[in-house]
Amino acid sequence: RMQVITDPREWAGYCRRVTASGHSLGFVPTMGALHSGHAELLRQSLAENAVTALSIFVNPTQFNDTSDLEQYPRTLEADLALAEKLGVQAVFLPDASSMYPDDGDYRLDEQRLSRILEGAHRPGHFSGVLTIVMKLLLLTAPNRAYFGEKDYQQYVLIKRLAEAFFLRESLGTEIVLSPLVREESGLALSSRNQRLSDEGRRTAARLYQIIRRVTEPEEAAHRIAESGMTVEYLTDTDELSPGSPRRYAAVQLEGVRLIDNLPVAAK
Ligand code: PAJ
Repeated sequence: RMQVITDPREWAGYCRRVTASGHSLGFVPTMGALHSGHAELLRQSLAENAVTALSIFVNPTQFNDTSDLEQYPRTLEADLALAEKLGVQAVFLPDASSMYPDDGDYRLDEQRLSRILEGAHRPGHFSGVLTIVMKLLLLTAPNRAYFGEKDYQQYVLIKRLAEAFFLRESLGTEIVLSPLVREESGLALSSRNQRLSDEGRRTAARLYQIIRRVTEPEEAAHRIAESGMTVEYLTDTDELSPGSPRRYAAVQLEGVRLIDNLPVAAK
């Protein structure tokens, strides 16, 4: 049976017993409202490790917008059923007070790559992400931790965090990138898509179609705006992946913030 654990000390104990008994441990941190994108990370972990651990925690410190935090979808029963069906062995479901015994007084902060793209539009967001991911990695000490290409900037920041703090040498943890999963329409799967109307979903699908086909960033931004979305940014850059530029976009639609990214040909 799948273990469901809420206490951090108990979780750390469970995870240490797994690795001490010689089993490889894969870890997939999430905020729940699981969809096929999350399932892909779990499947990859299940294929590459003897035991797969999932965490579900809507981390308050990474929400720069309180209404986004309040409206974040919560579907715990369905999440646990999906995890069990996929064969996940353990789920960590902490609450905010147990993850922040310091009340958030201590924070990790990255000075450079966390300031561009998402970071420029969501002040404090990556500090919240890096802080919670470090806590989760310290408690879990997995052999592999999986992060999605959907949030490419987040992946790069976590990969560099692991290097900066020697997580491979100390915890034995490797950070793994998992491919971006899209709906048939091309829309990148996101827990926040649940908040879109049917028409909103159709409009949202235009985002990927446009960023994939329209070469000129300015023209692409114009076309996205014409489709009824508000563009926060649309940028081609190799800052996060030197030598292999990617296009990054963030838009607002029906009060929902959507992001997407893809590799682009070098100019
Ligand atoms: P969350 O948005 O729940 O995403 C959990 C993981 O699933 C992240 O690594 C994310 O990149 C990945 N993911 C989401 N949608 C995806 C898709 N369509 N295709 C592939 N992967 C996808 O990201 C977070 O939670 C949080 O910031 C977290 C890392 C858990 C820290 O709180």
